[in-house]
Amino acid sequence: MTQPDLSNRIILVTGAGGGIGAEVARSLARHGATVALLGRGTRALERLYDDIVADGSPEPAICHFKLDSEPPEAYEQLAATLADTFGRLDGLLHNAARLHGLAPLANLPLSEWLPAVQVNLNAPFMLTQVCLPLLKQSTDASVVFTLDGAALEGRAYYGAYGACKWAQQGMAHMLARETEANTRIRVNTIDPGPVGTQLRSTIATGTPSSEFASPDAIVPAYLYLLGPDSRDCNDRHFNAGDDGPWSVYAD
Ligand SMILES: NC(=O)c1ccc[n+]([C@@H]2O[C@H](COP(=O)([O-])OP(=O)(O)OC[C@H]3O[C@@H](n4cnc5c(N)ncnc54)[C@H](OP(=O)(O)O)[C@@H]3O)[C@@H](O)[C@H]2O)c1
Repeated sequence: MTQPDLSNRIILVTGAGGGIGAEVARSLARHGATVALLGRGTRALERLYDDIVADGSPEPAICHFKLDSEPPEAYEQLAATLADTFGRLDGLLHNAARLHGLAPLANLPLSEWLPAVQVNLNAPFMLTQVCLPLLKQSTDASVVFTLDGAALEGRAYYGAYGACKWAQQGMAHMLARETEANTRIRVNTIDPGPVGTQLRSTIATGTPSSEFASPDAIVPAYLYLLGPDSRDCNDRHFNAGDDGPWSVYAD
């Protein structure tokens, strides 16, 4: 058994106030990373900041950012602030997602489709684009897109969320192939599987969250993908609930 070592890594996590994002961010910090916590919920981010500092982990940064409504200039400004503060990024975890329940495409209102596409597809694209110069400053940078197995099957009623997860998979493949030749950036995707979070409760109404994996159970896969141990791994997809290279990590 071994422990992942993420010391001196600077990692941006979107949706850091959510169920999986908070647990991953906390654990990245516990293993030495400095984490930039991106989210829109002030209280959740501040609570997480306090937890991380109380743990004795490196002090995180909070990036208040609304992925559904920030204009392109705000993305440029965010990247400029990260550049001023850290000078580089070693990891970018696309984890935020918008899923307001299941609905047939026939009834899905445009007023939900558009903001869902903004959060689930346009935002990961814009954020990746502005962060690429920072990722290029790292000797070993990892971009991770969070997918969803149900959406990737094209399961009915997953709406804009499902379509965007599918598109994110395509974007991740493209980016992996575009960066592998002449950068030290790797790009991989991860499916956390069914995890007891707010997002899961919107699609599994009536099932208690204890029926699903807890966020901490799937964290090792994220530590692997965002840490140096996955240095040689590019353009691959992982299921966080399976055994994988991260199984060697001690609890
Ligand atoms: N849980 C599962 O069973 C499951 C299964 C497959 C894939 N996933 C994927 O896992 C990832 C994490 O989901 P989760 O289960 O941890 O869900 P969650 O607890 O609901 O977290 C989602 C996060 O996204 C953030 N977000 C949503 N809209 C946003 C916006 N406009 N601007 C900024 N942030 C926004 C939320 O912020 P607020 O806290 O402010 O709302 C929240 O922090 C998602 O990509 C999801 O697709 C989850």
